[in-house]
Amino acid sequence: MEHSHHIRLGVNIDHVATLRQARRTTYPSLVEAAVACERGGAEGITIHLREDRRHIQDADVFQLRQTLKTRMNLEMANHPDIVAIALQVKPEEVCLVPERRAELTTEGGLDVAGQRRELADTCEALRAGGMAVSLFIDPELRQVEAAAELRVPYVELHTGTYCESTGGAAATELARLRVAAQRAHECGIRVNAGHGLSLANVEPICALPWLDTLNIGHSIVCQAVFIGLEAATRAMLQKLVR
Ligand code: PXP
Repeated sequence: MEHSHHIRLGVNIDHVATLRQARRTTYPSLVEAAVACERGGAEGITIHLREDRRHIQDADVFQLRQTLKTRMNLEMANHPDIVAIALQVKPEEVCLVPERRAELTTEGGLDVAGQRRELADTCEALRAGGMAVSLFIDPELRQVEAAAELRVPYVELHTGTYCESTGGAAATELARLRVAAQRAHECGIRVNAGHGLSLANVEPICALPWLDTLNIGHSIVCQAVFIGLEAATRAMLQKLVR
């Protein structure tokens, strides 16, 4: 049998918090959600503490920090208030992402090349605090090289454009991801990837060179609805007796 190995999976549980925030309830519990992902084999849990706190709340970050058995990857914008929280929480990994308030989800990668000066101090502060810094970037050589100049241990390649394209455009985007992953490796940077990945589109991504971890959220939470809805209906029906 051909030797195969698993690419690591970080499960992003932001949208479990989205369900909770939709009703401002105390459930579903993010701690329980993380436990389920870890039992399923996740090697890390990813959460995005957004400035607008639309899903993950500060208390979630602190609670998960105390309960996770695996690694915490905290996604965040380069904003002083959020950086201060990261320095307090000290997740294993911090992934810096761009953030716009009106966006539905992270749109595009960080412009590391254009924001080098603003990013340098944050990267250094996080590194000094013992965290591994990752920069979420589009698969462009100039962004990989700018990340290398900042001496970060990880980049996360943005797979969103690949996920939204088909046919020749998807092949072109895959090629860009491959080239970016190769260049990152040559620069001594470890390669993560994510955004928009699902059971339907992840296979070609697994063939990227030097891939360490994929961070996947929305599609896993969506899949959980269908894996669980029948059983949840049955559980309720069992109560409906008189
Ligand atoms: N990686 C990064 C940097 C992200 O911002 C997100 C979305 O929060 C993900 C991965 C996960 O994307 P998705 O929810 O589409 O799987």
